[in-house]
Amino acid sequence: MVKSIKQIFNNSKNRAASAAKLKKLRELYLETIAKCLIGLIYKDRSQDPWNGQKYDPRAREYGLDWPATAHSMIGLKRMENLRSLATRVIEENIPGDFIETGVWRGGACIMMNAVLETFEASDRLVWVADSFEGLPKPSSDKYPADRGDLHHTHAELAISIEEVKANFAAYGLLNERVRFLKGWFKDTLPNAPIEKLAILRLDGDMYESTMDALVSLYDRLSIGGYVIVDDYGVVPSCQKAVSDFREQRAIADPICDIDGTGIFWRKTKA
Ligand SMILES: C[S@@+](CC[C@H](N)C(=O)[O-])C[C@H]1O[C@@H](n2cnc3c(N)ncnc32)[C@H](O)[C@@H]1O
Repeated sequence: MVKSIKQIFNNSKNRAASAAKLKKLRELYLETIAKCLIGLIYKDRSQDPWNGQKYDPRAREYGLDWPATAHSMIGLKRMENLRSLATRVIEENIPGDFIETGVWRGGACIMMNAVLETFEASDRLVWVADSFEGLPKPSSDKYPADRGDLHHTHAELAISIEEVKANFAAYGLLNERVRFLKGWFKDTLPNAPIEKLAILRLDGDMYESTMDALVSLYDRLSIGGYVIVDDYGVVPSCQKAVSDFREQRAIADPICDIDGTGIFWRKTKA
C-alpha cells in the first residue's frame, strides 16, 4: 500500500521525536552516572589529609579532594568535560579508542564506557592503564622535576585491579570493550596493542607519568582527537611535562582550561 504524504510526514515526525527523546534519556543517564561516580548523590566524605574528612560540595564539583568511597576524584566539571568530548568524537566520527593513563578506582574510564554504551559503539575500546599499586617513586636523575614527589607514599592512591574491575561491574559496564594495561606506564604503554585513539586522558600526576604517556601515545591520537590533562593547573611537574612535550613537538594547538585544574587540546596536526 502506498503511504499518504501525511503518513510519511507523521512517521518522520515520530522519528524526530524518538531521536530527541533518546538524546534526552542519554543525557539524563550520563548525568546520573557522573554524579554517582564522584559521590555527589550520597554526599560521600573526603579521605585526604587536607579536607578534614568532611563532604564539601565545592571540592567535589572542582575535583579538589580524594573521596572516601566514590569511584573518581576528578570532580563534576572534569567529568562533564570528559563526557562531552567523548560524545563529540563519536558524533564527528573521529576514529579511535579511549584511554586513561592513571585511573585510581576507574571512574573516568567507567564514564567513557558509559558514553560508548549509550551509542552502542562496538568499534571502540576503553583502555584502563595503571600500576594498580599507586604512583612510582621519583626517578629524579632522569626526571629532575619529580624530585621530592611524595605521591608514592599515599596508600590511598593504590587501588587493586580487582577493585577497579568490581567498580566497572557495579555499573554493568565491565564488558568486552574494556581492556586493562597493568604495570608502570614506561613498561606497558610503548608496546600496548592500541592502534588509534580518539581520547587520550592523562591523570598520572607526575612529570614521568605524564611524559611517558605522551611519548608513547600521542602519535596514535587521531587528528581531531583530544588530549586531556587532569592535573595541569595544580601539579607544576605535570604542567612542565606537557610544556616540554609541546615544545619538543612544536604543538601549537590552543590549550583550553576546564576548571582551573584540568586542560585539554584538540590535535590538528600529525
Ligand atoms: C590521581 S590518580 C587518578 C585518578 C582517576 N583518574 C580518577 O578518575 O579518579 C593517579 C593514578 O595514576 C596511577 N599512576 C601514576 N603514575 C603511574 C605510572 N607511572 N605508571 C602506572 N600508574 C601510574 C596511580 O596508580 C593512580 O591510580
